[in-house]
Amino acid sequence: MTTSEVTWPRPAGPLELRLPTRELLGEVLVWRNRPEVTRWLLRTVVDPEAFAKTWLDGIDDPLDHSAIAVLGDEVVGTGSLWLTDAMGQTHGDPANYMRAEAGLGYGVDPAYAGRGYATDIARALLDLAFGELGVHRVTAGCYADNIGSWRVMEKLGMRREQHGVRDSWHAELGWIDGYTYAILADEWRVQR
Ligand SMILES: CC(C)(COP(=O)(O)OP(=O)(O)OC[C@H]1O[C@@H](n2cnc3c(N)ncnc32)[C@H](O)[C@@H]1OP(=O)(O)O)[C@@H](O)C(=O)NCCC(=O)NCCS
Repeated sequence: MTTSEVTWPRPAGPLELRLPTRELLGEVLVWRNRPEVTRWLLRTVVDPEAFAKTWLDGIDDPLDHSAIAVLGDEVVGTGSLWLTDAMGQTHGDPANYMRAEAGLGYGVDPAYAGRGYATDIARALLDLAFGELGVHRVTAGCYADNIGSWRVMEKLGMRREQHGVRDSWHAELGWIDGYTYAILADEWRVQR
């Protein structure tokens, strides 16, 4: 599966996921660098031009399936999905585990928080990952204090597989706990 074979835009509950454009990214940047958004992100304040370039370059990257979430004409969030290789032995066919995993991320404009939109975005990206992209497993990480983020993962049936004790550096708080969540293709199919 290549990027061009993935169909965009895609529905995400009441939202639509669209490939990024400069205009859409300009709307994202209105809220992306606000303190309440960056508080629990690893990539905190971003340079607008570098941010836009990364997103636009991703359109032609077969490993990147990130999108902008729109409600009507309003940009309300972002969703990121990137393919990675799973762990696997060199013996045999590496195609078994190459691009067999995906990482997941999401962000919502604070003005639209608490309406289930991050869950809608993540659900649509899990459908893409386990559907067209055919991955075996999707993982996502967050700071343990980012309750809204891990609630999204738990609502979607993802499993907390790691509670890293003070494994994550935070610029203001120092070493704090982190969580890793995951879900397998089989598990997603059963619950869908
Ligand atoms: C975290 C974030 C993605 C959540 O987006 P959202 O659209 O509000 O999420 P949803 O409405 O789909 O679900 C959030 C859930 O967390 C709950 N929640 C949020 N903050 C909470 C808190 N402080 N304590 C307890 N529950 C909380 C909500 O009640 C909701 O659960 P519910 O449906 O059972 O009531 C959003 O706040 C955000 O973009 N934050 C900044 C960027 C970020 O941290 N991204 C994730 C990086 S790992």
